Amino acid sequence: MTESVSSESADDTTVKGVMLREAWYYALAANELRRRSTAHRTLLGEPILIGRDAAGKVFALRDTCPHRGTLLSRGAFDGREVECPYHGWRFATDGRCTAIPSQTDTQRPQPADVRAKTYAVAEHQGNVWVYMGDKRESLPPVPEVPALGKRFQIHVTMRFPCNIDLAVIGLMDPAHGAFVHRSALWRDRASIHEKQKRFSPVADRLGWRMDRHRASSNSRAYGLFLGGAPETEITYTLPSVRVEHATTGRYGYCGLTACTPVTADLTDVHHVMYWDVPGGAMWRPLIQPIARRFLDQDRRAVMAMAEGQAFAPSTMLVRDADTQARWYFQLKREWLAAAAEDRAPRNPIAPATLTWRS
Ligand code: FES
Ligand SMILES: [Fe+2]
Repeated sequence: MTESVSSESADDTTVKGVMLREAWYYALAANELRRRSTAHRTLLGEPILIGRDAAGKVFALRDTCPHRGTLLSRGAFDGREVECPYHGWRFATDGRCTAIPSQTDTQRPQPADVRAKTYAVAEHQGNVWVYMGDKRESLPPVPEVPALGKRFQIHVTMRFPCNIDLAVIGLMDPAHGAFVHRSALWRDRASIHEKQKRFSPVADRLGWRMDRHRASSNSRAYGLFLGGAPETEITYTLPSVRVEHATTGRYGYCGLTACTPVTADLTDVHHVMYWDVPGGAMWRPLIQPIARRFLDQDRRAVMAMAEGQAFAPSTMLVRDADTQARWYFQLKREWLAAAAEDRAPRNPIAPATLTWRS
């Protein structure tokens, strides 16, 4: 085996497919949640009711009734209390039980004895995030994109039938574009050329940044959209948030991609696009289907990989095209080690220049 190829090291199996906790995960687009409505989402295998109360505030409860486990999200919500559809136990948005219709005054439990579990939830930049963890007294910052001017926004969500790692790595992969995303607006094989990009660690979080650079000349879509060759910066932070910021100085585009494990082998990929080009609203009907098509191309590529990997082949991570995948596993190991040792994580990534053809 040469220097430039390494088998995925054996200890990667200690982190592969592991769903990291104590982190914000993307739950849904804010506009999917009307006032006085609730929605069910499964995050990291946990059933969660996410709702918006009468005042517009978002809240989250464990979506199983403390009585017999019925999904509370199947019940009525009047903007103040959720009512279980089975026996009518009622719960306020802070988890307090307010009514147990079947109980006499002398029977136990009374409402004061019962609570539904709550989750920390945040609505930010048109996205709703749920904190999956127990350390709620010191929440990390909610993931965000850099500020843009008047922004337009599109959300695309797609379910990938694979674990979080395959989704994350499949999306960050720098060498699949010409093969997976063949499209008039994008790239083709003939455009493959050598690239060199500088990377640096993100301070105070486990992540890395592809330093600001002129967007590659074969990304024609950018040029068309922003009216000029933009400079781009891409940041990746654990557990699964990629933020791309492209700007021509006058106009900008931000893309936020967040992968949320539904279960150990199902992952929701959320892609949110923001832009501030004048007349930007007219781009929406054009961009939405393109974004869906892109994500679907990624989904198919990742599915083919997941199907192959189900046979447990020995695989390799090559330099430098797969270096980011290697970093991802490295950071994941550090995340878990820091949690086990109850210390702050230390970013193991050093500044680097990576070279590949794409
Ligand atoms: S199962 Fe919810 S009230 Fe009985
Ligand atoms: Fe892709």
